[in-house]
Amino acid sequence: MKNTSAVLVTGGAGYIGSHVVKQLGRAGRRVVVLDNLSTGFRQAVRHGELVVGNTGDMALVEDLLHKHGIQTVLHFAAHIVVPESVSDPLKYYRNNTCSTRNLLECCAAAGVRHFIFSSTAAVYGIPENTFIDEDAPTSPINPYGLSKLMSEWMLRDLAAASDLRYVALRYFNVAGADPEGELGQATPEATHLIKVACEAATGKRSGLAIFGTDYPTPDGTCIRDYIHVDDLARAHLQALDYLEGGGASIVLNCGYGHGYSVREVLDTVQRVSGRSLAIREADRRAGDPPALTADSRRIRHVLGWQPRHDDLAFIVRTALEWERRLAVLDWAGQRHGV
Ligand code: UFG
Repeated sequence: MKNTSAVLVTGGAGYIGSHVVKQLGRAGRRVVVLDNLSTGFRQAVRHGELVVGNTGDMALVEDLLHKHGIQTVLHFAAHIVVPESVSDPLKYYRNNTCSTRNLLECCAAAGVRHFIFSSTAAVYGIPENTFIDEDAPTSPINPYGLSKLMSEWMLRDLAAASDLRYVALRYFNVAGADPEGELGQATPEATHLIKVACEAATGKRSGLAIFGTDYPTPDGTCIRDYIHVDDLARAHLQALDYLEGGGASIVLNCGYGHGYSVREVLDTVQRVSGRSLAIREADRRAGDPPALTADSRRIRHVLGWQPRHDDLAFIVRTALEWERRLAVLDWAGQRHGV
């Protein structure tokens, strides 16, 4: 029988959260989005009710959990810029770690049963192997990764002490946009490679740099496992089914299991866009591991998750289409109206 109780989605107006909210709507779920709109957009919430507020606001969260009889929380709300986490660590520990603690306390008090957490491959730091499974040692090299790992630990400990069960999804490099063109990454001053390259291809920036060409990889540039946001969003819905079906708490990598170099990504953006990009070669960026790819066997096995868009050209095509559309929509320009 279809579950009709509402789910709470923190950060549901953000890049990944908004794609999940759209899919939850398609699946007929009742959704309450909690987002402070600091980096999210009202326009990105295509389904459900939007409540503007902070995840760490316990009075607000308690009220929402009770009012809507929430049994399940999907927790996306977080700051995600790695260099910023280095220069302003307390911002990350407050917003990512302390807010998660507050949210979990409210969940425990209200008897929330299922929790899906947005974690990150940044918990692995610079791993010994480049093909990483979930049992690899966690050793983050920046406050962002640490802030997320501490949240994983709180979840683990709370689950051991209560009836709450959780899925922590460790995202690798999320990219692309809604294949239907309604959603995508809209945050200004983006730093992620595919977004930056698509901005360059659509004339929003003059060019871009390759950070490091002397890595021990076939073409000297870093390799990452790029996962389409639509596939990642679907993993959340399957995680929800898994928990509602009685599944045990688990940590799962989200990636395709193979990677592309920075040069391969830029070649693809140039080919798909038909534009030649102004690319300069720069020094290595601090804290970049040479190669990171997900061993994704566990998520495929446990959730039955199968990627639909394991195709770099498709990822880039949707990201480019979104970038063109965003230029017209101008969500950031309308932000003062929120
Ligand atoms: N890169 C460039 N030029 C740019 C931007 C990026 O050469 O203008 C390179 C980076 O040096 C890196 C690769 O492209 O080698 C990917 O960089 P991103 O910034 O797109 O992504 P990261 O791999 O650094 O980090 C992302 C998320 C993190 C997450 C991590 C996990 O930002 O939150 O993936 O793999 F933890």
